[in-house]
Amino acid sequence: MLDRSNELSAWDRDHFFHPSTHMGSHARGESPTRVIAGGEGVRIRDINGKESIDAFAGLYCVNVGYGRTEIAEAIAEQAKTLAYYHAYVGHGSEASIRLAKMIIDRAPEGMSRVYFGLSGSDANETNIKLIWYYNNVLGRPEKKKIISRWRGYHGSGVMTGSLTGLDLFHNAFDLPRAPILHTEAPYYYRRADRSMSEEQFSQFCADRLDEMIQAEGADTVAAFIGEPILGTGGIVPPPAGYWEKIQAVLKRHDVLLVADEVVTGFGRMGTMFGSDHYGIRPDLITIAKGLTSAYAPLSGTIVSDKVWQVLVKGSDQLGVLGHGWTYSAHPLCAAAGVANLELIDRLGLVENAGEVGAHFRAGLADALASHPHVGDVRGDGLLAAVEFVADKDDRVSFDVSRKVGPQVAAALGERGVIGRAMPQGDILGFAPPFCLTKEDADIVVERTADAVKAVLG
Ligand SMILES: Cc1ncc(COP(=O)(O)O)c(C=O)c1O
Repeated sequence: MLDRSNELSAWDRDHFFHPSTHMGSHARGESPTRVIAGGEGVRIRDINGKESIDAFAGLYCVNVGYGRTEIAEAIAEQAKTLAYYHAYVGHGSEASIRLAKMIIDRAPEGMSRVYFGLSGSDANETNIKLIWYYNNVLGRPEKKKIISRWRGYHGSGVMTGSLTGLDLFHNAFDLPRAPILHTEAPYYYRRADRSMSEEQFSQFCADRLDEMIQAEGADTVAAFIGEPILGTGGIVPPPAGYWEKIQAVLKRHDVLLVADEVVTGFGRMGTMFGSDHYGIRPDLITIAKGLTSAYAPLSGTIVSDKVWQVLVKGSDQLGVLGHGWTYSAHPLCAAAGVANLELIDRLGLVENAGEVGAHFRAGLADALASHPHVGDVRGDGLLAAVEFVADKDDRVSFDVSRKVGPQVAAALGERGVIGRAMPQGDILGFAPPFCLTKEDADIVVERTADAVKAVLG
């Protein structure tokens, strides 16, 4: 097995261009290749037989856990019956139609239709195009700017990478591209004025947004996009009152709201959608990851009735919608989606995510909050993060070159648990599968505390 593993590693270094990877160090063999061979429940196994608890569910997507034969069989059955037909010009498969209905049945009030894509990034591209189309149909050709937030993550295409508010995804790619603007991140721990309460900081964020819209001119601002809880930007829950105050500003200026629920959709907050959890009433919702638990690539843009009515008017004026992907509503992916949502319901996984999430976060806080280099332990639902600092009293970060976050993640990996060093800041993130038990949550906490001790004392 070791020979096979070594051979694969060599081929990998020579031929495989990995996403989000240090290209030079990987090609030179300085960072190891890990070939994942199998998985069951919350555990994965690599080609050398080493088992780990995957406390990040892949990339917060394998929500039902690994090895679900129900989903595998649904995909196989669909492949035998009808592997592919397109969805253009009103075509569909039973699986894609069924799935669209299941999504709208579960979506927040006022949602009307689902446009299917393959990734969170392409679904957000679709959102931007639909928003521009919407304002053109309404005779407002100037109303096109999209406001996102620093530390938001919305994908890594040209437009969606621009929406993303993280330097790593902009540097040397000539991003962001106009007409995309970034406003204050709702990052309470890193607020400049420490005397502010959560409510005051939320008001501060809403005021910054209001000022930006007024400075740009409300007649030029089309939409605001945000994750209900910041994910890749550091797993940061919104401060109290944030969404209420932001929505009041958007309403005042007739600016659409896109809730990017790629991470939160289908249960991660202990509710079906993050919008339900935080009282968000979006005009458009982005979904991906949890829609199929990553058993097949599928995403979607859920369009509210308000937007849908304008789109319909648009095609009556302009003809066929000039937007589509070959693999929109791919039957294999749709079959995976149907089986996945059925499984989530049958096993009560949304409720489990909420319950075990609360247990897990309390355990992390107990074990780590008093550590001298832990500045913040936070999260919501089944999402959690630990932020490391050099100086706790003054919230001083470690020098980036020390790579404290990646070191803790590596130490945790050696202890058989996968957490994620988030890309900006020394932040260790967790987003386990929804089938995590309290016993496994306790193991993750215990090994995290041990890994932090090994790196930071
Ligand atoms: C909130 C959010 N939106 C969009 C995306 C992009 O999804 P994808 O990687 O499938 O393009 C991600 C990916 O992590 C995400 O977290």
